[in-house]
Amino acid sequence: MTDHLASAITDYWDAAADGFDEEPDHGLRSQRTRAAWDRRLRAWAPAEPSDILDVGCGTGSLSVLLAGAGHRVTGVDLAPQMIAQAAAKLSAAGLAGRFLVGDAAAPPTGGESFDMLLCRHLLWTLPDPWAALGEWIARLRPSGRLVLVEGRWREAGQTGVPYVPGADSLPWNGGISANDLTAAVRPLVADLRVEPLSGEADLWGRPVDDERYALIATI
Ligand SMILES: C[S@@+](CC[C@H](N)C(=O)[O-])C[C@H]1O[C@@H](n2cnc3c(N)ncnc32)[C@H](O)[C@@H]1O
Repeated sequence: MTDHLASAITDYWDAAADGFDEEPDHGLRSQRTRAAWDRRLRAWAPAEPSDILDVGCGTGSLSVLLAGAGHRVTGVDLAPQMIAQAAAKLSAAGLAGRFLVGDAAAPPTGGESFDMLLCRHLLWTLPDPWAALGEWIARLRPSGRLVLVEGRWREAGQTGVPYVPGADSLPWNGGISANDLTAAVRPLVADLRVEPLSGEADLWGRPVDDERYALIATI
């Protein structure tokens, strides 16, 4: 990623960090929404305790659920303000875990490997999502899981103004359909399935009618 784009993306999300959890599916402040994500994450994750890497973890709401379920969680995000929120949330919940500032495309976890890699709503803002997918799979242990929660959001790109300067060059700007992501991931993994998520309003805190799904792959 160019330094210019990386710093524009970092600045955007640092500025967004304070208000980020106001969206129901970000902050998971309602019990119904939190429980809906907790059920899905428990179904997608291997047996606890597993080592899980949450890339582009934002304010860490999903990391905290996974830590609460008994997993050893590492969250990585480019934006220091997001990481600060995530660390505070984990500590307020009295849970252990680790949050690191870094690029999800090359997570700063050295030679460590993981049982599961989770990515929610990040692929659309990566300059080279194909390279990131390859890198993530290389970080997984044998039979490890890749869980990608993605979509093609109705509101995305409607203004015609890129969310940061240079964002119009992002290949999956606005989101990626389940069919297109399946085509990108299938050659890299042993097995995959897609779970549609648009129909479960509790996940989003409201009914939605655009495409939202999870792709769960085993390497
Ligand atoms: C839409 S938010 C999703 C946050 C979180 N995964 C969630 O679902 O609540 C996108 C996040 O990705 C982070 N991000 C964007 N580009 C990144 C990159 N190259 N590496 C790591 N994090 C990145 C942003 O800082 C932001 O926290």
